[in-house]
Amino acid sequence: MIPQSFIQDLLSRVDIVDVIGRYVQLKKGGANLLGLCPFHSEKSPSFTVSPTKQFFHCFGCGAHGSAIGFLMEHAGVSYVEAIRDLAQEIGMVVPEETASLAQHARAQAVEVQSLSGVMGRACDYYRKQLRITADAVSYLKGRGLSGEVAAKFALGYAPDGWQNLAGEFGAYRDAEMVKPLLDAGLLLESQRTGGEGHARYYDRFRARIIFPIRNIKGQVIGFGGRVLDRGEPKYLNSPETALFSKGHELYGLFEARTAIREKGYVFVTEGYMDVVALVQLGFANTVATLGTACTPFHIQKLLRQTDCIIFAFDGDTAGRRAARKALEVCLPYVADNKVVRFLFLPSEHDPDSFVREKGVDAFVAEVENAMPLSQFLLNSVTQNIDLRQPEGRAQAQFAAKPLLQAMLPGGLRLQILRGLAELTASTVMDIEAVCDLKSMVKRRAAPSARTKRAPPAGLEQQVLRLLLRFPQLANDLDAPARMMLTQEGGVAYGDLFADLLRHCDAHPSNFAALSEYLAQSHFAQTYAELQCEIMADEMTLEAAQPELGGAITKLRVVSLKREQRVLVERIQSGQAGEDEHMRYRELMSQIHKD
Ligand code: UTP
Ligand code: MN
Repeated sequence: MIPQSFIQDLLSRVDIVDVIGRYVQLKKGGANLLGLCPFHSEKSPSFTVSPTKQFFHCFGCGAHGSAIGFLMEHAGVSYVEAIRDLAQEIGMVVPEETASLAQHARAQAVEVQSLSGVMGRACDYYRKQLRITADAVSYLKGRGLSGEVAAKFALGYAPDGWQNLAGEFGAYRDAEMVKPLLDAGLLLESQRTGGEGHARYYDRFRARIIFPIRNIKGQVIGFGGRVLDRGEPKYLNSPETALFSKGHELYGLFEARTAIREKGYVFVTEGYMDVVALVQLGFANTVATLGTACTPFHIQKLLRQTDCIIFAFDGDTAGRRAARKALEVCLPYVADNKVVRFLFLPSEHDPDSFVREKGVDAFVAEVENAMPLSQFLLNSVTQNIDLRQPEGRAQAQFAAKPLLQAMLPGGLRLQILRGLAELTASTVMDIEAVCDLKSMVKRRAAPSARTKRAPPAGLEQQVLRLLLRFPQLANDLDAPARMMLTQEGGVAYGDLFADLLRHCDAHPSNFAALSEYLAQSHFAQTYAELQCEIMADEMTLEAAQPELGGAITKLRVVSLKREQRVLVERIQSGQAGEDEHMRYRELMSQIHKD
């Protein structure tokens, strides 16, 4: 690992305004700088950069982070690379102990480079083969595809036979070629043993139409191969490699980027054929998952391109199940400016077959009528439930609980709460209580059965926010304050405060530098929420200092009172020993003093 102290030092020397200013045109807007967000398309600027916090935040898409985070997101570089780039700019040298990590990153980069080279060459080879294979061409024509769309997606054909690709790459003359082909998953090692003359390696893709899968930069990173007509398995896919991970990639995203921005939404299907067919028929903003369920990475990737996602699923049980899964994955990401909708097709259809049978207009009508996420959520929690019975209404609320908890508080969640309240003869407040919908931060601090009389989460939250915003304030905390914050069984978030103070003491740092550390800690989730709130407030150090002092004092009283209550109970029940009696008297005098 690169030592934290170096990263902290680095981030206190680079200026995020310079770093971002190179890519985004920034204008002064109050204390912050404003620009058009590079992570989603927008017409009016909601991307802010704070010189004092050394942090960026987009109020449109929620992207936020330090200079390191910006480079990683924007230039698509790794954590280590981002640090190295920044260090180089200001003439700092990344310390020695990073050597093994940097070497590792370099080795990976080399691997990726040669893998992508191999992939690109294989793609060219398959394309050439398609041109000279009449069967394959007529199969595609038979499915209604034009030469134009085949070219756009670089469709190809892997000929029948076991050693075509290996031969093309000269892998039998040049043993060096075998490894990259194996790594790329294009060649497989034969399990058969013995027998001179048996080739040890054979082609993965044989007698299949080839769908090259590209990453967002347009590099070929994998392939899907479909049998001509019938055969099992219908599709073979590249294995996961350093370049290719099904849970992260979407087929057609590279080709669809411009259209997604133009049309203002992305259409997500489940199949290669759906993508190529729909693109040909005018839905150029279509992509597909790669035979796996929708993942958070998919959603994040898509929301970087657009604020509106429309999913298409079959109307049958499997399709419903996949839709339900997609719903769950989307919930943490939907916001008041993000729309997710679900199109349920008749069960015998996928988008490709539907549009071919019913025509483009019928399909457009379906897309326009796609069900909003709010409706789908309400449908799925009330499905097969008798809402005329109190039990049924309670059941619906019970089913909604995890879904609502996964959502960020906001307008959309409120609307869904309203809908659910109406369906279940309750109020929004009832549902908030039943479903325990306090913010994540508060939920962490929710009193457990034993510490029922925990102080309000508000004070701890206030202290935490102030310390995150101005880490230097940790110096102001005296020993009793530290004890109180970090003691086990003391204030809520004790473990978090301990972690935070340990870090602040070891590495005096600013907000951005601290954030970088916190993102790696296992309280990352809690911090992330607070960081967004912090971005929105304009507090000065001068104002923060007394506020922290005040909050600590109040917190001390609250925690003393809590200790006192516990002691009173023990004294009254006759369980208390002499020292507890003494402590009680001590507490009484302290509380009165404060
Ligand atoms: P479908 O069977 O719906 O395929 O599988 P499709 O794309 O509509 O193709 P056609 O119209 O039958 O030719 C949906 C997706 O699931 C993955 C592929 O990504 C496919 O596009 N899949 C399917 C596999 O990976 N392997 C299989 O054997 C089948
Ligand atoms: Mn199909």
